[in-house]
Amino acid sequence: MIITIGPLIMMKFVTLTAKEYGVPVTASMSPIMVDGTGMCGCCRLTLHTEEGSVMKFACVDGPDFNGYEVDFDEAIARGRSYFEFERRAHDHVCNMYKAADELKSGKNA
Ligand code: FES
Repeated sequence: MIITIGPLIMMKFVTLTAKEYGVPVTASMSPIMVDGTGMCGCCRLTLHTEEGSVMKFACVDGPDFNGYEVDFDEAIARGRSYFEFERRAHDHVCNMYKAADELKSGKNA
């Protein structure tokens, strides 16, 4: 048995590799959790079970799931939803630090 936890892309390929050898995989989906209360919806994921596809929340229904059933591609796509916003926020904060450093060093005077 394999237990995988970490970046979604890693867990996806751990699961795909294990599946080739028929090794059961437990995937911990805690990396996609934010508030952990079932309120924010960030940890929503789809499982493709023998009975059909079902929606779950990692924080209230998991966080551990059968890796074979987790739709990692969907989870990865959802994780990228705010990528552009996060990049701009990151750049904004970094530029604030850079401006502060330049101010301190007298470059911007
Ligand atoms: S972490 Fe927010 S709903 Fe699960």
